[in-house]
Amino acid sequence: MKNILVLFLLISLSSCSEKENPEPETELTGIYPVEELLYFGDKNLPTDNITTYEGIELGRKLFYDKRLSSDGTVSCATCHKQELAFTDGKAKSIGVNNAEMSVSAMSLVNLTWNNRLTWDGKSQTLEEQAFLPMENHLEMNQDADITAQILSATDEYPVLFEAAFGSEEITPQKITKALAQFERTLISNNSKYDKYLRGEYQATESELRGIQLFFTHPEAEQGIRGGNCGDCHLGSLTSGSTLGFEGLHNNGLDNDENLEEGLFSVTQNSYDKGKFRTPSLRNIALTAPYMHDGRFQTLEEVIEHYDVGVQKSQTLSTLITAASNDFITDPNGEVRLALTEQEKQDIIAFLEMLTDEDFITNPAFSEPKQ
Ligand code: HEC
Ligand code: HEC
Repeated sequence: MKNILVLFLLISLSSCSEKENPEPETELTGIYPVEELLYFGDKNLPTDNITTYEGIELGRKLFYDKRLSSDGTVSCATCHKQELAFTDGKAKSIGVNNAEMSVSAMSLVNLTWNNRLTWDGKSQTLEEQAFLPMENHLEMNQDADITAQILSATDEYPVLFEAAFGSEEITPQKITKALAQFERTLISNNSKYDKYLRGEYQATESELRGIQLFFTHPEAEQGIRGGNCGDCHLGSLTSGSTLGFEGLHNNGLDNDENLEEGLFSVTQNSYDKGKFRTPSLRNIALTAPYMHDGRFQTLEEVIEHYDVGVQKSQTLSTLITAASNDFITDPNGEVRLALTEQEKQDIIAFLEMLTDEDFITNPAFSEPKQ
């Protein structure tokens, strides 16, 4: 605990002095210290792609570059906009030639603390994931080899690749490595909730009740009321478990008849039908519409789903069927969380605490000046 306090003191001291005596901008080079966050847990950093300032700068430029797409109209940022916490505000994302995808764009946040990426968990690393949007015909639709050739023919890129990777040669692997380095810096840790955790913000009564409800599993018999959210949206990251595929769940969106493949498409195990990644809820107030298919427009609709809208199916999570604030008398009856109106509002008050203004305005994440 003492170390933690010393660290906070150091962090706050250094940020104070920066503000008081603005130093002339010095260019930082070399290894970038991906932030240690005391309450986020273990990082998942590769050993064969060390994050450097040069790599981040290159990755950021690539992230905003439309030349990565076949018709030159789409960049990563087309679907991952900073002001929307790196989502696009659409239920289904639109790529080149106005092609509509089958899923909603995911927020890019605190990715260093994940082990499975995309809604169905098909990628394990950011390096591997970056190939998918680049080459998918519904997204950027351009072979990474072609992209490497296009970038090699520019004036600016060979120099940047040299700075980041020690050689001017541009390869698909290096492109994805640079993108991954930039993505690892997209850290959101300055929401009201973070400030509350660090003792810098006094939460309102409603927010305090919301935090309590969010992280409590209800026990009707013992009079313990809870929203049960934290059973899946774990800890201060509010995202799924990083143990194997345990972070993917069926949260009751559809019945057996309409169950989508989800994780089944990755494992071919019928028990995995309808299971999707438990996404982080950080900045959730900015990332509507909600769920993998964008079916809910508002957080109120999301809460109604968990309260009374859960659909039964073979693979519905037992973390949901086992949670109710009501006494469950009929085991075959409806799954109901049975929250009061006030409790629903309190949980939303907590979700709104997760908005991080610094994250969506941080100039280090925005489109670089040409
Ligand atoms: C046409 C819109 C579109 C474009 C362009 C796009 N993405 Fe995405 N992104 C999505 C969608 C939709 C998902 C969810 C995909 C899925 O589940 O299969 C996603 C998911 C992701 C994820 C997974 C996040 C998580 O938490 O699991 C990462 C990382 C990502 N995109 C990075 C990128 C990068 C890097 C680029 C550029 C090379 C890019 N995206 C381009 C729409 C897009
Ligand atoms: C059984 C695990 C589980 C529980 C319990 C749970 N969630 Fe989820 N949550 C998920 C999964 C999985 C998804 C993604 C589902 C999908 O899109 O198919 C999700 C999605 C969401 C989304 C949409 C995220 C986005 O980016 O679109 C919100 C908001 C949300 N949950 C809030 C809550 C709240 C609030 C509670 C408690 C009332 C809760 N969840 C309880 C697993 C769970």
